[in-house]
Amino acid sequence: MPFHSFFTFFFFILFLYPFSIQSPAHAISFVSPIQKDNATLLYSLTVYLKTPLQPTRLHLDVGASFSWVACDAGYNSTTYQHIPWASLLCDSLGHNLPCSVCFNAPSPSCANDSCSLFPENSVTRKIALSPALTDSLALPTSDGSTQGPPILLPGYIFSCSPSSLLEGLANNVTGLAAFGRSNYSLPAQVSNTFSVPRCFALCLPGSPSDPGVALIGSVGPYYFSPQKTDLSKLLVYTPLVLNPVGSTVVTYAGEPSDEYYINMTSINVNGKPIQINSSLLAVEENGSGGTKISTAVPYTVLESSIYNALTTAFVNESSALNLTVTDTVKPFGVCYSAADITVTRVGPGVPTVDFVMQSDNVFWRVFGSNSMVRITRDGGGDVWCLGFVDGGVNPRTSVVIGGQQMVDNLLQFDLDNSRLGFTSSVLLKGTTCSNFNFASTR
Ligand SMILES: *[C@@H]1O[C@H](CO)[C@@H](O)[C@H](O)[C@H]1NC(C)=O
Ligand SMILES: *[C@@H]1O[C@H](CO)[C@@H](O)[C@H](O)[C@H]1NC(C)=O
Ligand SMILES: *[C@@H]1O[C@H](CO)[C@@H](O)[C@H](O)[C@H]1NC(C)=O
Ligand SMILES: *[C@@H]1O[C@H](CO)[C@@H](O)[C@H](O)[C@H]1NC(C)=O
Ligand SMILES: *[C@@H]1O[C@H](CO)[C@@H](O)[C@H](O)[C@H]1NC(C)=O
Ligand SMILES: *[C@@H]1O[C@H](CO)[C@@H](O)[C@H](O)[C@H]1NC(C)=O
Ligand SMILES: *[C@@H]1O[C@H](CO)[C@@H](O)[C@H](O)[C@H]1NC(C)=O
Ligand SMILES: *[C@@H]1O[C@H](CO)[C@@H](O)[C@H](O)[C@H]1NC(C)=O
Ligand SMILES: *[C@@H]1O[C@H](CO)[C@@H](O)[C@H](O)[C@H]1NC(C)=O
Ligand SMILES: *[C@@H]1O[C@H](CO)[C@@H](O)[C@H](O)[C@H]1NC(C)=O
Repeated sequence: MPFHSFFTFFFFILFLYPFSIQSPAHAISFVSPIQKDNATLLYSLTVYLKTPLQPTRLHLDVGASFSWVACDAGYNSTTYQHIPWASLLCDSLGHNLPCSVCFNAPSPSCANDSCSLFPENSVTRKIALSPALTDSLALPTSDGSTQGPPILLPGYIFSCSPSSLLEGLANNVTGLAAFGRSNYSLPAQVSNTFSVPRCFALCLPGSPSDPGVALIGSVGPYYFSPQKTDLSKLLVYTPLVLNPVGSTVVTYAGEPSDEYYINMTSINVNGKPIQINSSLLAVEENGSGGTKISTAVPYTVLESSIYNALTTAFVNESSALNLTVTDTVKPFGVCYSAADITVTRVGPGVPTVDFVMQSDNVFWRVFGSNSMVRITRDGGGDVWCLGFVDGGVNPRTSVVIGGQQMVDNLLQFDLDNSRLGFTSSVLLKGTTCSNFNFASTR
């Protein structure tokens, strides 16, 4: 697509957008396909970056503060710029950030007097020190049923990083896309630039072969095939809770966490509450405890006493269905022979697990498709295991809701209203996260 047509569309959107926001039926989302990586079980999305625009795959990190892209080798763009250290933007990116000095040839990763950030890999918890950049980013749009051309965000702010920071992420990614609550996450920059709602939705795919979708800047509708089901209509909400203490490797005193916490108050198995020390579910002043959403872990991680209460209740409830536990497969603690399990349209027929929020009738129901993991091994062995893992006795966060429990559920992070919307399994509505229609164009 010629460059000038991006700008034409860009101005078109700027001038006509107020009408779109007032008419939710035509609300426009910025969209990006989400891929599941078979090896790491992590998720990535695709954006267009640089000039000329190049498709770029970035690790999806729902809790990160700012994005980063490996730029020490082959970063090739005519529009990148360093952010000067002596600038208001550098000040607002963080207090007392380091100022770069570099004696190599000038390049994206080498500059003097540039504002530097500490990009972090949230999976390995490794960090680097690298210059902050701006460059062109573009995302396609969708009005819920048809896709528009990519719209340009000319001064997208992110950090350069060394390629070594990519270790531990999916093979194909060249950086990280931050979706945290900071002012410089990808959705925050989209919302600030285009004056669209500070709201995004994630629908993670269950399979590596069919992408799911990230929908940025709109509260809905979000239409999914085959029935053109508007999944925004199914959302149930719980308030987002602020954790007063950040947990990144480099933190700044007094800065709250950019991760998304919710106030889960109990976990039910087949509708019956399990025994949990409720103080574990509250976020303490020092930032410990509570429940957060994370794309850095493939399975929900529970503090040991919560994990033990869940598995005990689950085994007990399953025995009423004549299910007998079999040999376990690491990292899981409860498995059943696949031959004993009946598969329903929401996965294996096992007891339900509910994450109960502010009242008994507000709960995120986890059916077999989200609670169980199928494991087949060479030389026999075909089991379904309960897809939760033991996080030990003193983890910082008591419940970290991970990827397996999010797939084929639509989650809406509504920062304007400081709430999380969740649908529970969309399989119940006869659709999946891979049924967003990317194909048709305006
Ligand atoms: C950068 O891109 C230009 C034009 O696309 C190309 O001519 C050049 O070889 C590229 N350089 C590198 C290092 O990839
Ligand atoms: C940074 O400044 C030093 C002199 O202070 C100079 O030698 C060096 O080449 C400069 N680096 C870049 C990337 O311009
Ligand atoms: C890497 O991504 C490219 C497209 O960006 C795709 O064609 C290729 O199959 C991917 N490789 C793996 C191992 O996922
Ligand atoms: C958030 O970022 C925008 C630019 O993207 C800037 O104009 C605004 O001042 C920032 N707000 C805060 C609170 O830092
Ligand atoms: C993912 O890996 C499993 C085995 O590890 C394999 O059976 C399956 O075909 C793979 N799927 C894709 C899309 O590569
Ligand atoms: C979380 O829920 C508990 C129990 O309903 C309540 O006492 C507490 O105030 C809530 N905390 C927040 C931060 O909303
Ligand atoms: C609940 O947990 C808190 C903090 O971990 C601990 O101080 C308290 O003794 C526990 N209460 C019970 C009844 O185990
Ligand atoms: C945070 O405070 C709680 C109780 O107030 C305490 O049990 C816990 O050990 C503290 N955690 C850290 C990391 O200091
Ligand atoms: C075990 O399950 C039965 C019903 O199947 C229930 O009545 C009982 O309370 C459960 N016991 C525990 C310890 O969860
Ligand atoms: C469990 O097995 C018993 C005895 O074989 C049978 O009577 C009962 O109906 C079974 N229950 C279920 C839920 O299949």
